[in-house]
Amino acid sequence: MARISNLAKLFHAVSTRDWTTSRLLAEEIVEAEEKAGHHGAAARLRGALVQTGPRADETGGGQPLQSLLAVQPDLLTVLPPSGPLSDVTLPQKARVQLDEVLREHRNKSRLLAHALSPRSRLFFHGPPGCGKTLTARALGTELGLPVFVVRFDALVGSYLGQTSLRIREVFRFAEVRACVVLIDEIDAVGRRRGKTTDVGELDRVVISLMQQFDLSHPAGLLVATSNIPDELDVALLRRFDLTLEFPAPSSAEILAFAGREASKRGIRLINGVRHELASAKTFADAEQILQVEHRRILLRGV
Ligand SMILES: Nc1ncnc2c1ncn2[C@@H]1O[C@H](COP(=O)(O)OP(=O)(O)O)[C@@H](O)[C@H]1O
Ligand SMILES: [Mg+2]
Repeated sequence: MARISNLAKLFHAVSTRDWTTSRLLAEEIVEAEEKAGHHGAAARLRGALVQTGPRADETGGGQPLQSLLAVQPDLLTVLPPSGPLSDVTLPQKARVQLDEVLREHRNKSRLLAHALSPRSRLFFHGPPGCGKTLTARALGTELGLPVFVVRFDALVGSYLGQTSLRIREVFRFAEVRACVVLIDEIDAVGRRRGKTTDVGELDRVVISLMQQFDLSHPAGLLVATSNIPDELDVALLRRFDLTLEFPAPSSAEILAFAGREASKRGIRLINGVRHELASAKTFADAEQILQVEHRRILLRGV
């Protein structure tokens, strides 16, 4: 059972409308139950902490929560909406898994009633230009949530010592705001610990990232991506609820993708363009070739 002194602190924070402290104290109580081996109680309390539906205090609430809910433009940039997930070419396995995650989020309250939460920490890896970022945006579209991308320039600024603090801010934001937070190319901060080229500070950053992943309960989704997963700390990778590979497409897959895209654009693929497409290595390459062709067609004879 939580100690009365901890509960008293929590009650005090609630009575002074200090939501940030309230949340931290509540999390401490959950952790204490976990440590004491009361896993059922911990899961139940954690479930109660996960936000569902609109917050009662979203309008005109206390200052701390308001400021947490506000977008921090130097740390997070909003990404433009994308099309639905069906517009993304995905390996069958990834599509099945992502559809399942979406179903979990759309039926969150049913899961919470059984002390379960939807999978919300996702990791996408694979070569560049194969749809990792696009998928994160499409998940936002599917769930009707805005998508924010973490700005690494702000995260890993000139003061390395501040990085852990800023990482905390990002995770806190993901907890109070129902959205998709994208940590794109996480290898920038999540490299393996103990590598000869690393300095101690970077090790601490990885540890801090791991702690935040462990403690965090995103209100929406946290998606991390990497082109070089082998460089990432394996302990960090274990923190994700779901890991999906976005492999390089075969040339047949690229041609099929290009065919679909061309018909959406209402353009016909002439042989010269098909030939160019044969050398495309990624969907992004193919998309670029189609765009050039589309421009050419539109401006022909102008
Ligand atoms: N799997 C895909 N399905 C459809 N379009 C794709 C796919 N992968 C890439 N693209 C196209 O290439 C662009 C860049 O892809 P992106 O998602 O940024 O790649 P990654 O994040 O894997 O490097 C997308 O905006 C889209 O136009
Ligand atoms: Mg990307």
